[in-house]
Amino acid sequence: MCGIVGFVGKKQASPILIEGLSKLEYRGYDSAGVAVIDKDHINVVKCKGRLENLENKLSKHPLKGIVGIGHTRWATHGKPSDINAHPHNSQDGTISVVHNGIVENYLQLREWLMSKGYKFVSETDTEVIPQLIEYFYKGDIVEAVIRAISKIKGSYAIGVICSKEPGKLVAVRKDSPLIVGLGKNEYYIASDIPAVLNHTRDIYLLNDNEFAVITENGVKLLSEDKKEVKKDIYHVTWSANAAEKGGFEHFMMKEIHEQPKAIRDTMTSRIMPGKPVTLDDIKLTKEQIENIDKIYIVACGTAYHAGIVGKYVIEKLVRMPVEVDIASEFRYRNPIINKRTLMIIISQSGETADTLAALREAKKRGARVIAVTNVVGSSVSREADDILYTWAGPEIAVASTKAYVTQLIAIYIIALFFAQHKNTLSSEKIESIKKEMLSLPIKAEKVLGNKEIIQEMAEKIYKNKDIFFLGRGLDYAVALEGSLKLKEISYIHSEAYAGGELKHGPIALIEDGTVVIAGATQENLIKKMVSNIEEVTTRGAKVLAFTFEGNKDVERAADYVIYLPKTMDIFAPVLAVIPLQLLAYYISIKKGCDVDKPRNLAKSVTVE
Ligand code: F6R
Repeated sequence: MCGIVGFVGKKQASPILIEGLSKLEYRGYDSAGVAVIDKDHINVVKCKGRLENLENKLSKHPLKGIVGIGHTRWATHGKPSDINAHPHNSQDGTISVVHNGIVENYLQLREWLMSKGYKFVSETDTEVIPQLIEYFYKGDIVEAVIRAISKIKGSYAIGVICSKEPGKLVAVRKDSPLIVGLGKNEYYIASDIPAVLNHTRDIYLLNDNEFAVITENGVKLLSEDKKEVKKDIYHVTWSANAAEKGGFEHFMMKEIHEQPKAIRDTMTSRIMPGKPVTLDDIKLTKEQIENIDKIYIVACGTAYHAGIVGKYVIEKLVRMPVEVDIASEFRYRNPIINKRTLMIIISQSGETADTLAALREAKKRGARVIAVTNVVGSSVSREADDILYTWAGPEIAVASTKAYVTQLIAIYIIALFFAQHKNTLSSEKIESIKKEMLSLPIKAEKVLGNKEIIQEMAEKIYKNKDIFFLGRGLDYAVALEGSLKLKEISYIHSEAYAGGELKHGPIALIEDGTVVIAGATQENLIKKMVSNIEEVTTRGAKVLAFTFEGNKDVERAADYVIYLPKTMDIFAPVLAVIPLQLLAYYISIKKGCDVDKPRNLAKSVTVE
């Protein structure tokens, strides 16, 4: 889980690499480094810590050269340290490599290389790659990379430079993202698009086992057997600013505010009054839909929480059994899947290792797979049968916000699409649901206009050691997400419980001053939630409740209330999650935490 960049052109490479890395720090930030070819020699500068440490080091030892590679790391093999930071060189220093992914057979390869006299300096799996390339190098770096890669098991996106062929950069990927940016007489590689957007909007999305050979004369794409690959240029339409903070102090706050737009964009051309729900990238026919007897929703973290909403909503609107599973559990538990199973995979990045593995497992067993993802060309989108993109735009903050609400929207869209085909709802009902759905962006804006009260609440509770979340039905699904947001960015211990479970154990934790955040939006469950609120306030808890405007019973029972604009119960999660995201954000700020880059976390978990 790292970010890689590379540059070939006529300008000095080092500042361009650093700028690219600054856009990829969300992929990892425990160390960083660059390698640049100066005539016939590779110079490497790398160090532990954030990118600014590397910049400081470079200001003392500037690198000269117009071809280079760079890396920002999130440790997997070998602790964060100067030595373990990438790039890694081969023994004779002629080959330098940056790598994102994991070399699963690195111990065997290392032993084998050691038996041939190679010495290793780092604890990383990556170091076997430059050593292997050096071993196979016989005057052609492309050939040597291809031979080295054929020995590697695992996942990788790598960038390679060689001082014996100083004008060349070779890149390849398998199961880790990699793009090639096409500028004017200058070319880039990167793990993600924002890293190149200041220079170009034209890119190649590399597929697994495709090699890019880059010189100042252009980019040649090759297959493993060295056949030239022709590929369409993908033109990025979102602005470079979209990947920047856009005036907010943190990416997370910017992304919270982008939610109304992200919701609107995700519905565009799919949800239209008076027209059937149309989904370009879902090719399922009416007959195929009829044939489905079970749906699995599989995802990790926040995306999994969106999946829980999916279970409630699809079961309610489509009357089909839905099971929601955590991808890391699903992939190893021999799930019951056959040709009549539909799997919905949810993944913002489309690169989460467990989610991807679950997708492959389901496909192997004959299931049809729909991917809900935010990244065009991501691994998940390429491997699924059908795709529903969430148009949230790039999400940079590690804590997911706008991706979550767009995942909810995608779920509603899928539910309506199925309901339409299976006639489980009348066309009038579908129209009224669509109408309400189309009003969600404005309602979300209204929630965002009410930030002060949440900021005040954050002031009151930020010193608490534990904060509990309670909810029933869809409020329980939102409680899980609110609790995750809080713990991941403020480091406050937090748990979410289904209201009905309170008496089965968790109530023992309630004492004077315990903070409980309670969701009470679901009409058929409000009375039950009010009872739960009373049960905890009686035992000394302070309760902050969220509910729809006009629910006076909730106001009477709770200490503080956040009112949400009225919407249909099924859409409550879209609005209710916003105050919880804001609460987590303000508490994190009060505690002086690094909101956008919480400790120990990385944006995209591309290894197990
Ligand atoms: C939490 C968060 C993570 C991700 C999870 C799955 O804020 O962002 O829990 O939701 O790692 O990531 P994707 O959706 O990229 O598969």
